[in-house]
Amino acid sequence: MEPYRIHVFVCTQQKPEGVSSCPARGSLAVLDRLDKEVQARGLAGEIQVTTSGCMGLCDEGPIMVVYPEGLWYRHVGPADAAEIVDRHLCNGKPVERLAWNDAAAMKAMSVEHGEKFRAAVAAREKAGVLPDHLMQMIRSYMPSRCILTALELDVFTAVGNGASAEQVGTRIEANVRAVGMLLNALVAIGLLTKDGDQYRNTPDSARFFVQGSPHNRRGGLLHTADIWHRWSTLTEAVRRGARLAREEAEVEEWTRNFIAGMQHNARDRAPQVVRALGTGGVRRILDLGGGSGIYSIAFAKASPEIHCEILDLPEVVPLTSDYVRHAGLSAQISLRAGDMLHDDLGSGYDLVMLNAICHMFSEEQNKDLFRRARQALAPNGRLAVQDFILNPDKTGPQQAVLFSLNMLVGTEAGASYSEREYAAWMEAAGLTDVQRIHLVGPSDLIVGRAR
Ligand SMILES: C[S@@+](CC[C@H](N)C(=O)[O-])C[C@H]1O[C@@H](n2cnc3c(N)ncnc32)[C@H](O)[C@@H]1O
Repeated sequence: MEPYRIHVFVCTQQKPEGVSSCPARGSLAVLDRLDKEVQARGLAGEIQVTTSGCMGLCDEGPIMVVYPEGLWYRHVGPADAAEIVDRHLCNGKPVERLAWNDAAAMKAMSVEHGEKFRAAVAAREKAGVLPDHLMQMIRSYMPSRCILTALELDVFTAVGNGASAEQVGTRIEANVRAVGMLLNALVAIGLLTKDGDQYRNTPDSARFFVQGSPHNRRGGLLHTADIWHRWSTLTEAVRRGARLAREEAEVEEWTRNFIAGMQHNARDRAPQVVRALGTGGVRRILDLGGGSGIYSIAFAKASPEIHCEILDLPEVVPLTSDYVRHAGLSAQISLRAGDMLHDDLGSGYDLVMLNAICHMFSEEQNKDLFRRARQALAPNGRLAVQDFILNPDKTGPQQAVLFSLNMLVGTEAGASYSEREYAAWMEAAGLTDVQRIHLVGPSDLIVGRAR
């Protein structure tokens, strides 16, 4: 018995290169469009749109089936979605030009497709062809690089409400032929659409990558584009066991993008951290390497009784100052330019925070930092570390493991660490009641108390 009035299945089965498949014919865009049309009509509770494995008829794809009547559609495109929803799903009248009900032909095609598919897989297996999933993994830098280049050149803003390659090329002052190739790739990736010679942003790219959108994330993502260059040095960094020298000319812009990137990443996490740590009994906070000040700002907003002090590098403090001033919290947040690894950290703090800091440093540097942070705490004060936390065998979670390499190519001696390591360093520093607090997202808190 269906829990829905109507259940629609759209084939999204990926196939090896050379074997026809519904996704290769655009079924993912159909699925997305159908979903949106259903939601736009407020029908999500009664009409369920579901992905499906191969239904054997991909040569006629994109294929979809509508239940309870079991009616099949073929050659469906995103532009057909509204009509299918209106005519068929809402009014019970199939869209005849797309309907396919020749059961004998369908059966024959399904058998033939199955044989072709199995033969293709067997032939590739015998020839020792690299499987598609490995190839995809190896080439995954290509779409990533296209997006990063588009962000660096502000292509999505230049596309705006619709533009040709010539117009985009003129706006971003780049070669028109090459811009056309990049725009076509962005269409293939699914971040632009193309109609004639006009390119348009998808809802996602218009929302997140275009200047003027309230959710524009480009500023923060430019840091990811900067990091790309470091990742190209990974082979040499692994050989040497250390990062390669930085391009000094890039440092100032790099720092601005870095702090903006951190601020974007922490937007949804800062209020979570305030809730997780609480403001009870907290009056003085030391925010080591506070960057954009986003965590201090969240605490200061949570209680007018709280005063925060942010210690960061001299080249970062002017940027921090701008963020704090913009938040209107200069009276509650003071700034100190310095080096947390060598400076006296002060004393009497109820909370010392290390948000996204420990991964920059070696084990020895962290142990020493925890010891000095402990000395800066008032009785009953807490040290809170927020970071990507590795599993005990250090092979997961994937983001934390990959981030360790990000530190190899980007810092002198940084890495991701495990909960066991953080807990041991806290206990060695004289902190007690060490606990891990899970946050929504890729990082967690480890908190210890000074007794
Ligand atoms: C990864 S960011 C984290 C920023 C901020 N805590 C956040 O989570 O958004 C690291 C911060 O530590 C600062 N930093 C790095 N080394 C430092 C040092 N030796 N002393 C003080 N600050 C440092 C950087 O300038 C940067 O602001």
